[in-house]
Amino acid sequence: MAKIPLIIDCDPGHDDAIALMLAASASDLFDIKAVTTVGGAQSVDKTYYNARRVLAAIGLDVPVARGAAQPMVRKALGGTEIVHGQSGLDGPALPEPEGEPCPLTAFELLCQVLEEVEEPVTICPTGPMTNMGILLAVRPDLKKKIKQFSIMGGGFYMGNWTAAAEFNILADPEAAKILFDSGIPIIMSGLDVTHKAYVTREENEVLRQNGNRCSVLAAELIDYFSRYHYEVEKLPGCTLHDPCAVAYLLAPEIFSGKPCHVEIDVDGTYTLGKTVVDWFGHTGKEKNVLVLYDVNRPAFVKLLTEQLARLR
Ligand code: BDR
Ligand code: CA
Repeated sequence: MAKIPLIIDCDPGHDDAIALMLAASASDLFDIKAVTTVGGAQSVDKTYYNARRVLAAIGLDVPVARGAAQPMVRKALGGTEIVHGQSGLDGPALPEPEGEPCPLTAFELLCQVLEEVEEPVTICPTGPMTNMGILLAVRPDLKKKIKQFSIMGGGFYMGNWTAAAEFNILADPEAAKILFDSGIPIIMSGLDVTHKAYVTREENEVLRQNGNRCSVLAAELIDYFSRYHYEVEKLPGCTLHDPCAVAYLLAPEIFSGKPCHVEIDVDGTYTLGKTVVDWFGHTGKEKNVLVLYDVNRPAFVKLLTEQLARLR
């Protein structure tokens, strides 16, 4: 079977790092063409450095490019230290990046990959969607080379950065709007599903006991990341937002979703950055998004634990 050509656009970020590991673990399914980075969980300098360190830990040799430092229109949100620490990836020790930095910007690398491929590519944005907004605005001719977006962002019932909005969308609502309005199929792993994709302390110990370097690293990332979920959000486990966007591609049968029309609110007083989901079809508009709302949690944890055991 032909592999799925994949690009991951991320802001590591603890759960971004685990999403990268999950994608790398499925080398039989994915052909990872590139990793691009964006400012979000921390500055783009830090997320770029973090992505390169994570890839060095995994032993994944694909081009990694530095993307947008600022949202398309607004100022960066900031305040993410409470979730990801000063480095954006506080907690575990990570190796230094390997190889030379990519001479291309994320925009240039995205264009290069998309120009070269014959088979349309799946893109997983797991951070603010600035790189995607710029790509789609500047090179709409490349839309035909994008099969689908499997994103982590948004939420039907809740926000996590304001009462209404999820961080990745709120961080650059104008870019998210360009992506959602693009006409390209979108699978949305929003908070409705990602809050169900959590790992308990006991399950994290099982992951650690895999014993391989990457499983231990993922468990250490979860040790740090879970503090926010337990102490601030009072959730029953560590919420693995970003891995959902990759896990859906690996095992769509463990997720439940509904095609809906979704708009991004770019000027609401109270709802800026909200993904407005037309669940009952009031607008009659095209169903542009598969909104994931549930996951078989034991199957998700099993998938993660078994896949990460395949890494070094
Ligand atoms: C999103 O925000 C970041 O903290 C996570 O990496 C995830 O992409 C969740 O709202
Ligand atoms: Ca992220």
